[in-house]
Amino acid sequence: MPPETKSIGTLIEEKTVKSRRETADFAKKFAARIKAGDVVAFYGELGSGKTFIIKEIARYFQTEEEATSPTFTIINVYHTGNDWDIYHFDFYRLEHDAELSNIGLDDYFYRDDICLIEWADKIQKYLPLDRYDVFIEFVEGETERRRIEVYQVAE
Ligand SMILES: Nc1ncnc2c1ncn2[C@@H]1O[C@H](COP(=O)(O)OP(=O)(O)OP(=O)(O)O)[C@@H](O)[C@H]1O
Ligand SMILES: [Mg+2]
Repeated sequence: MPPETKSIGTLIEEKTVKSRRETADFAKKFAARIKAGDVVAFYGELGSGKTFIIKEIARYFQTEEEATSPTFTIINVYHTGNDWDIYHFDFYRLEHDAELSNIGLDDYFYRDDICLIEWADKIQKYLPLDRYDVFIEFVEGETERRRIEVYQVAE
């Protein structure tokens, strides 16, 4: 694997966006690619735009206002009005794997919903092999510029 490769998957899309508008367009195009049952892992520093992209994906699927899970604050649900929903995970505050044991991650990852995961690196070993990896990086010197890479990982 070349050293610059960050994912075990295949690079299927890469783009340098210059503005929020362009990120939103990118998110919309990516949303058109995914379907119920898919898992997407997001990687990127604080403020790089993970939540921004996830909200745009949710908007694409015309979801209702985000419903926060009463039990686990790291999981939010967006209802789509279909027989599947969008689950938005944020593992930033996860400190110990033990906290995952009562969440039942597999129940989410292997059912017919869309799972969008922030700070996926924190649960790397629990991620399903069949997924997308999305990397977002700041481009130095440009506040709104981001480099986005999408990898497809398959079993
Ligand atoms: N091109 C761009 N794409 C996305 N967001 C941008 C862009 N340019 C500037 N921003 C700003 O960057 C910030 C991204 O914040 P966001 O909450 O999406 O980051 P995050 O990766 O989810 O961070 P965290 O790790 O804290 O959850 C927002 O304030 C957004 O307005
Ligand atoms: Mg975020």
